[in-house]
Amino acid sequence: VRAPPSNVAWRTVSDPGRRLPADALDELRAIVGDDHVLVDAERLVPMSTDWTGRFVGRAAAAVRPASTGEVAAVVGWARRRGAALMTQGGNTGLVGGATPLHGEVLVSTSRLNSVTVVDMASMQVTVGAGVTIEAVQQHAERAGLRYPIDFAARATATVGGSIATNAGGVNFVRFGGTREQLLGVEAVLGTGEVINDLRGLRKDNTGFHLASLLCGSEGTLAVVTGATLRLVPRPAAVLTALVGFDSAHSAIAAGHLWVARSTRIEALELMRADGVGLVCEQFALPTPLRAAAYLLVEVAGERDLDEELHELVECTDGVTGSAVAADESARRRLWRYREDHTLAINRLGPPLKFDITLPGAEMQPFVDSIASQVRGVDDEANTWIFGHLGDGNLHVNVHATTDAAGRIESLVFTEVSRRGGSISAEHGIGVAKRAFLHLRRSPAELAWMGRVRAAFDPDGVLNPHVLLPHE
Ligand code: MLT
Ligand code: ZN
Repeated sequence: VRAPPSNVAWRTVSDPGRRLPADALDELRAIVGDDHVLVDAERLVPMSTDWTGRFVGRAAAAVRPASTGEVAAVVGWARRRGAALMTQGGNTGLVGGATPLHGEVLVSTSRLNSVTVVDMASMQVTVGAGVTIEAVQQHAERAGLRYPIDFAARATATVGGSIATNAGGVNFVRFGGTREQLLGVEAVLGTGEVINDLRGLRKDNTGFHLASLLCGSEGTLAVVTGATLRLVPRPAAVLTALVGFDSAHSAIAAGHLWVARSTRIEALELMRADGVGLVCEQFALPTPLRAAAYLLVEVAGERDLDEELHELVECTDGVTGSAVAADESARRRLWRYREDHTLAINRLGPPLKFDITLPGAEMQPFVDSIASQVRGVDDEANTWIFGHLGDGNLHVNVHATTDAAGRIESLVFTEVSRRGGSISAEHGIGVAKRAFLHLRRSPAELAWMGRVRAAFDPDGVLNPHVLLPHE
């Protein structure tokens, strides 16, 4: 593995020096209680830095409301005081969408952690926004069901954050993203009004589906305080296979073939030898089968999974070997090669993170050419490519020298746009991509998003500096 360039730390560091006057803090304390207004640097610094370390801001304060009523009061306070709020869940986002670069007051959802009994008749559960994805998964499992959203940050990422970004994850290919699981929300709008539809009716054509609108709105329209989520049956068996290929070309072609042939694929992830090598090096893992590229594929169902996998692999060109795991710990071991990519890459320094979707036919030419195009801009750059092949979603991470970062962003986003893709598949726009949103959204769409935002949040108190480009 090539060493990272010496200067990989392309970062946005900002301390607007905004502090709240004593009477404003007292008003917040009266709403959420003395212990839940945080002002000390020790508490605020970690909350003001994003997971990658690329975005470093400084919150004016952080509040931890314990109920929807308290959130509404905090929003009312912000409107009176002309303060900007920024909602924060597990702080695992990757686009700076929850990093207070402008001295915002953080609204932590950590105390919005209620969990109701699983409704078995309707296969759903209602939880507070601060409940982690892993807690929802475990709660569903105890009831014999499953919450089908899953990704590596599961232990820290929250339901509220996953709704804000419409998080996708590794099972999107089978179950869709967060929006597909979202039956209803409770939320405080920027007006301070509360909407509450946690009745969980799956079929309900009674006008606008506001939960869907809030999903992916990155905290700009409302603070989501709770949600009703769809659960699915647990499969009797799951089989995970790591399949090696002689080239990325063969792996991508195989992935497309498999998705067209099988109804039981629940995850289909692409990796390359350099990424797997980095993971092995960083976490002292044994090298799995040697290959130029890999697919991690998971099939689930009631029976004959071995046969299914065997048939898929048999009908495929370019396979160099495979490892199959059926029990939980062996499956977890295989997943580490994929899930630890993000951590391993970050250990080399904060990368430029691209999270793109491409039309199926464009994936191969893009994968073939992007690293050399990036090198054309910065000959020290390292480009890592992995991701959710089954969804057409690639994660392209680039370690670049500081001077080249802006040009690399323009290059990659323009290339994605030229090929008919999206500049964000599942991480959202945040601050990292807002200047490029016009590559995906038309002027009319941007204008309407602005109008919708103004209707929900007329005073611009909710995440005013994320998602939409500056006027
Ligand atoms: C993943 O799929 O691992 C995540 O989206 C994180 C990443 O892109 O680094
Ligand atoms: Zn991902």
